[in-house]
Amino acid sequence: MSKENEYYYDYWQNQFREHDNYMISNHADFVGSVPNDTKEFYLIREHILEFINNNDSVLDVGCASGGTYLHIKDFSFKKIKYKGIDYVENFIESCKKRHPEANWEVSDARDLKEDDKSWDVVLLYDTLDYLMNPDRPLKWKKAIDEAVRVAKKRIIIVIWSDIKRDAPRIRRYLKNKVKLKEIELNSLPKSPHLMLIGEK
Ligand SMILES: C[S@@+](CC[C@H](N)C(=O)[O-])C[C@H]1O[C@@H](n2cnc3c(N)ncnc32)[C@H](O)[C@@H]1O
Repeated sequence: MSKENEYYYDYWQNQFREHDNYMISNHADFVGSVPNDTKEFYLIREHILEFINNNDSVLDVGCASGGTYLHIKDFSFKKIKYKGIDYVENFIESCKKRHPEANWEVSDARDLKEDDKSWDVVLLYDTLDYLMNPDRPLKWKKAIDEAVRVAKKRIIIVIWSDIKRDAPRIRRYLKNKVKLKEIELNSLPKSPHLMLIGEK
């Protein structure tokens, strides 16, 4: 299936402007003030950072507007080699313009251009959800295979849309591939997230 014909690809193409504006203005307000409506993202990214060590390299799969990069840059003292990838060109073009100092690339989670074990950590933060809808099966297992293939130390998956439906499927699929640890992120009760950390 070509990405142009995928429902979620079209969805994110259309979502791009809104997401980009929202993310950028919220992050700007956020620096120094931590307002409640964006606290959730801050806290989730802080949890993610607990599993990223100083001097690690991180491949951020489905980076959208680069929110995780901004968090690392503005709120972390860790030195991290970062690359953000997304299959929607608009996101990558926008990230490149705003942050030319970082690495950005158009790439599909299910067919990464990276070499085996070339990144310490591979992160899928709210990306896998969009491939796991059983009504629109979009090769989510391939995205997990690719993350496991290119990760040297660990993969981090964060999901939120349908945890009851998706978590058992991810657990089953990862069972013999990595050592799995899970953390429930309930900072925003209406939208709880689950973080699955797979150690290689
Ligand atoms: C909710 S956003 C992710 C948020 C982002 N990780 C952050 O930290 O702000 C979902 C992103 O996943 C991207 N995406 C969905 N399926 C993808 C795929 N197969 N390959 C690459 N990116 C994908 C979408 O284009 C969108 O930008």
